[in-house]
Amino acid sequence: MDSKKEKDYSTYFQHTFQAPNLKEARRRRKNTVQHLSDFSIPEDMKNIGEGKHFLIRTYGCQMNEHDTEVMAGILEEIGYTSTELEEEADIILLNTCAIRENAENKVFGEIGHLKAYKTENPDLIVGVCGCMAQEEAVVNRILEKHQHVDLIFGTHNIHRLPQLLKEALLSKEMVLEVWSKEGDVIENLPKARKGNIRAWVNIMYGCDKFCTYCIVPYTRGKERSRHPQEIIDEVRELARQGYKEVTLLGQNVNAYGKDLNDGTYRLSQLMDDIRHIGIPRVRFTTSHPWDFTDDLIDVLAKGGNLVEHIHLPVQSGNSDVLKIMGRNYSREKYLELFHKLKKAIPHASFTTDIIVGYPNETEEQFQDTLSLVEECEFDGAYTFIYSPRPGTPAAKMTDNVSLEVKKERLQRLNKVVNEHALKSNQRLEGQIVEVLVEGPSKKNEEVLSGHTRMNKLVNFKGPKTLIGELVNVRIVQTKTWSLDGELVEEAEVVNQ
Ligand code: SAH
Ligand code: SF4
Ligand code: F3S
Repeated sequence: MDSKKEKDYSTYFQHTFQAPNLKEARRRRKNTVQHLSDFSIPEDMKNIGEGKHFLIRTYGCQMNEHDTEVMAGILEEIGYTSTELEEEADIILLNTCAIRENAENKVFGEIGHLKAYKTENPDLIVGVCGCMAQEEAVVNRILEKHQHVDLIFGTHNIHRLPQLLKEALLSKEMVLEVWSKEGDVIENLPKARKGNIRAWVNIMYGCDKFCTYCIVPYTRGKERSRHPQEIIDEVRELARQGYKEVTLLGQNVNAYGKDLNDGTYRLSQLMDDIRHIGIPRVRFTTSHPWDFTDDLIDVLAKGGNLVEHIHLPVQSGNSDVLKIMGRNYSREKYLELFHKLKKAIPHASFTTDIIVGYPNETEEQFQDTLSLVEECEFDGAYTFIYSPRPGTPAAKMTDNVSLEVKKERLQRLNKVVNEHALKSNQRLEGQIVEVLVEGPSKKNEEVLSGHTRMNKLVNFKGPKTLIGELVNVRIVQTKTWSLDGELVEEAEVVNQ
């Protein structure tokens, strides 16, 4: 949006007003990020939520899921209790995602829907946070059309939730505080984790890759890694508490450590250290092929608690498209890495992300994507139609591919992806796999479900006492996205 044409909204505010700016968010500054442990609850905020309820709706990736756990932790520290019912809530926060237009539309639908609850209960605080809050066009639209929103804050100042909430409670005006420059790394934030079996652990924040279609580098700021000891201590503590699995999180975990000290302690060293912690399973996501080094492959090949699943987004199978996407690898380079990994970790499952209909993608270029999927025989893929994100370079390109063609390509792609997903599952028929039991299946209370080390979803019958345990299951039936099995009392062979 042209900033000259924008209204000056600052006159609307008596209190906090700090609006986002995507151009500013694009800048990468040299100054070092501070690692702080200075989070504290202001004296007058302690117990402010006593007897009150909060509800957080989360959209988007695991990073957002984990941010929600931090916000829930903060709200619980000031006395609030979680609820799933809008009518019971005193605060409702929407933790939003900006990755594609349809993700944003969903959130705008929900914002509109919350107006009725606000009318019913004028004391209700409605807040919007997460990646959408980092976009000026979104904030302006909320200011213009959704005056029932009380609070907007971004991804870099979650730790200021108590102060922002206090302002929102006292003020009749909307409170807006979004930082377009990334914040520091704050270590001592409380976390109310969802469940006690699997846990998310941030290892780094932000992204400096600037793929030309992607909004994330603007909404999450520059790459900044947590100190290894902080991560190791957190994983040790989770193991002590009885968690069975951790997933190390970052937009591009392979860039871990580049920004720390002399940059020599990287993801491979971190994984090698975490390998020695007594927690049964360690995952990581997302890894960009760009920084996938040989020593990381060597560490992953050691196995143990490092599970055999690699999510390696390819985006396109055509080198020219990859080039304008700014992915920094060609089709050949991706395939070389893929085969190297497959050789080093023969039992590994591979999943990927693919975008179809990038501006001006030709039928031939799309067929290169299909043939790459055929060659890699992925266990699964998240597939998307390209969605222009205002402020990114790709959004400025003219595009000669119609939506109909893009939709048709997505269908053709999904057909091939599904065929390989089913085939890879069929290879497991009759085998005994290790399953971490997560709970009753979503579809059937009588059935337990969990994932294998390769991240395959398995459903089987068994007593609820097994929830949280690692058990052996024989696969008896295979579907495209899940496996049905039976519990094996004594392990015959554990090969997954
Ligand atoms: N950091 C990860 C990706 C995070 S976003 C990586 O680089 O691998 C998750 C996925 O959303 C991306 O891999 C991409 O496939 C998809 N995506 C991102 N921006 C998009 C856009 N503008 N339109 C459609 N899909 C997009
Ligand atoms: Fe987006 Fe690329 Fe960064 Fe992934 S690596 S978050 S796709 S810019
Ligand atoms: Fe969405 Fe932000 Fe994650 S845009 S995918 S919630 S980093």
